[in-house]
Amino acid sequence: MSVKPFKFGRRIFLLITSFLLMAPYRALSRFLARRPLVYLTWRQDPTSTMVVNWMDNDSRSPDYVMYRQLDLPRGSSWTLARGFKHNFADDKKRIIHHVELRGLNSDTEYIFTIGSKGTARGGSYLKFRTLPKSIPSDFRFVTGGDMMHDRKKVDAMNQRAAELNPWFALLGGDLAYANADKKNVSNWEDWLESWMLNCVRKSDGGLIPMVVAIGNHEVAGGTGKTPKDAKYFYSLFPMPDKRSFYALDIGNYLSLILLDSDLTERIDGEQAIWLEKSLSKRFGKMPFVFACYHKPAYGTAKPPSGTKDSSKDPLAQKIIKHWCPLFDRYNVTAVFENDHHTYKRTHPLRGNRIDRDRGIVYLGDGCWGVDTRDVPKPGEVWYLAKAESKRHLICVTIRNGKPDYVAYEADGKVIDRHS
Ligand SMILES: [Fe+2]
Repeated sequence: MSVKPFKFGRRIFLLITSFLLMAPYRALSRFLARRPLVYLTWRQDPTSTMVVNWMDNDSRSPDYVMYRQLDLPRGSSWTLARGFKHNFADDKKRIIHHVELRGLNSDTEYIFTIGSKGTARGGSYLKFRTLPKSIPSDFRFVTGGDMMHDRKKVDAMNQRAAELNPWFALLGGDLAYANADKKNVSNWEDWLESWMLNCVRKSDGGLIPMVVAIGNHEVAGGTGKTPKDAKYFYSLFPMPDKRSFYALDIGNYLSLILLDSDLTERIDGEQAIWLEKSLSKRFGKMPFVFACYHKPAYGTAKPPSGTKDSSKDPLAQKIIKHWCPLFDRYNVTAVFENDHHTYKRTHPLRGNRIDRDRGIVYLGDGCWGVDTRDVPKPGEVWYLAKAESKRHLICVTIRNGKPDYVAYEADGKVIDRHS
């Protein structure tokens, strides 16, 4: 008998044995990791509310959250908040629960548990912190979009987000790449699971709340569609006014303006009218106003044929016509764009030209955890100050009243700094 076949046979035997022995544990750990999947959002005032959402597969599980302030002595009483549940759009196996906690104290840590049969991943209890009523000396959030081509990449960038200890994450669409297709519903589970396991702030263990905009990969058919074509997105996120464009005000210091760049709502008409009203209402009152949406006005990597200038794209031209003049008029702090799978920072722009004194910087371009695209060479496109084919997130820190933008790769390397 030769030695080689024996070794090969033994390897096969060990492989089959270990597979059979481990199979039930693998199935169990998969089940525990996947149910329930908890995520935090807001419909209103982040200084006094929090929406606790979760996905599970138990249509009889109760819709309540038990919560209390973390710093109360052990044995302190818990508060119960009730919410509601529904199927995950047309998916009969997955249930989405939403419970809004109201009347919370600002800048306060809370511990909570959900009223589901399962045990929340990472322990029975999760934590969050409400936002402060006035801006602290060092206020931080992260932003980016185009998140999940594969799990490994999104895990890595989510871990970077957690290292930076942001108050929240502003996500500019193309989250799970599920394309509103029934066959891809499990992509949402992967995406939620990655968030829940990784987006836990290193400083205090709080789950990072998300503020989301819609992207073309949330929609069946991409651009020019209606909300019914993005049923899973609308089912997951209980947005203010139940639509994909909305504003969220944080205390008296920061407003987020979330827009739908021709995905399920049109750029002009109702949305542009709303944008003008929303910006004018906040003008002179809110010191920091950030806009965020998916398809860019000043993109990097999807130019029409015959040019390198992505702003010549017809959809980009609509944004330049209907939204950018409003950003100029009401002097928004910065604009976050996505979709092109690159990093970009524009020169300061006003009136569709460079204005170094009064211009607005557009940052993006959506490359949280996806494969990258090529970018123009330096100087090749008039509006780009910096462009890189690199995955990143953008960390916005407002320090002593001044915003500072740093683009990080997943391993912590800095791509760009701007203040
Ligand atoms: Fe996209």
